[in-house]
Amino acid sequence: MIVTNNDYIPFVWSDAMSTGVEVIDTQHQNLLNMVNDAYSSLTETTSPVTFQRITKELLSYAIYHFQTEESLMKEYGYVEERPDEAELHIKEHRDFSAKVVAVRKTLNSGGHQEIIPILEFLKNWITTHTQDVDLKLGKFIQEKESR
Ligand SMILES: [Fe+2]
Repeated sequence: MIVTNNDYIPFVWSDAMSTGVEVIDTQHQNLLNMVNDAYSSLTETTSPVTFQRITKELLSYAIYHFQTEESLMKEYGYVEERPDEAELHIKEHRDFSAKVVAVRKTLNSGGHQEIIPILEFLKNWITTHTQDVDLKLGKFIQEKESR
């Protein structure tokens, strides 16, 4: 299979993705850039080592970002006041990390063509996640802040 990046449309940050919480927004932008980089690095000549490095960085950054959001949830009483929302939100974080781990396993086993659908998943995940559960969290934090 020939992998080209011609049909990849990079993520562009939009105001619709803004949670209104600066630290979250900045980290989301970084995360988007990292997935863009992962995509653009995926060519026929990319060595598995290079791609492993990129996905390792993506995974560590994602985990760091989820920790930031999850400590904000605790700090602002989100977990106590909106337990169902918080539970679903945290579950989505775990799901994302599991997919990145899957990318890395696929790379180790050399299944090149299986990487694209997983990257597509990550791209769609970030778009949906930031505009749904992260917006809810952002709104909650902003309400607490304004009191
Ligand atoms: Fe989140």
